[in-house]
Amino acid sequence: MPDMDSVKQSKDYYLDIPQNMAAFFLKGSGSLGWGMENRLARIFNPTSGRTVMLAIDHGYFQGPTTGLERIDQTILPIVKYADSLMLTRGILRSLIPSYQNTPTVLRATGGISMMSAELSNEQLAMDIEEAIRLNASAVAIQVYIGAKYESQTIINMTRMVDQAMRYGIPVLGVTAVGKDMARDARYFRLATRILAELGAQIVKTYYVDEEFDTVCSACPVPIVMAGGKKLPELDALTMAYKAVQEGACGVDMGRNIFQSEKPAAMIQAVRSVVHNNEKPENALDLYRDLK
Ligand code: 5RP
Repeated sequence: MPDMDSVKQSKDYYLDIPQNMAAFFLKGSGSLGWGMENRLARIFNPTSGRTVMLAIDHGYFQGPTTGLERIDQTILPIVKYADSLMLTRGILRSLIPSYQNTPTVLRATGGISMMSAELSNEQLAMDIEEAIRLNASAVAIQVYIGAKYESQTIINMTRMVDQAMRYGIPVLGVTAVGKDMARDARYFRLATRILAELGAQIVKTYYVDEEFDTVCSACPVPIVMAGGKKLPELDALTMAYKAVQEGACGVDMGRNIFQSEKPAAMIQAVRSVVHNNEKPENALDLYRDLK
């Protein structure tokens, strides 16, 4: 029996206040549906609009990469500083505790090793049900624009976008560069734009010194910057700083964090650059203080 006595007689419908209809904060992401936007908002900090994604998926074709030989020893202690973790399902299941709360971006392509003559010959290596089972916040698909298996890798991505759209899971399109390809803004404008046009909700690309701002500007969805090979800490922090100042919505860095002498200090320094617009020199001071 409803307790009518406790129902308040006067109610406030705030008739003079329009309902708050805040736009979704990420570029090009306002028409994706609640579930997908919610997953994106787990990856990207809604206050800064940026993410520090920690990439540890290198083993999918390189095996035990330097710094990732024992992920339980080197990565687990720093996961708490990452906004999201990019990794394979094998590492997730075997080494990442299921009670940890960092959103995950699951690599969903593979099929080659570093011994392969043609790295672009990748296939889909995971289906969307596995991503759902593992509670992924996004899936990552590598695309080799201009390489021998360009078309195959593009179709890998569009197939995954079609599957993932059914469940509101974002796809991170990763622009991979073949061994001999020039990495300039012209190439990355082409590659990032193709990935976005074909459905990726986030695009990962490398930084280039010239015209990186035009790469970000021409890509209608958020770009995250890949770190690339290990650099001196100041150089890596400078690259991350320039990338976000020139329009990237964060970083997806691996080696420049986990191959640093002090990964925990480095990821916190990267965070200060990405989320607080800290200048690289100040971030380096922070790195040294935390070391
Ligand atoms: C490879 C990837 C890796 O996740 C990425 O390159 C790793 O990051 P980093 O280059 O910073 O070590 O997507 O295609």
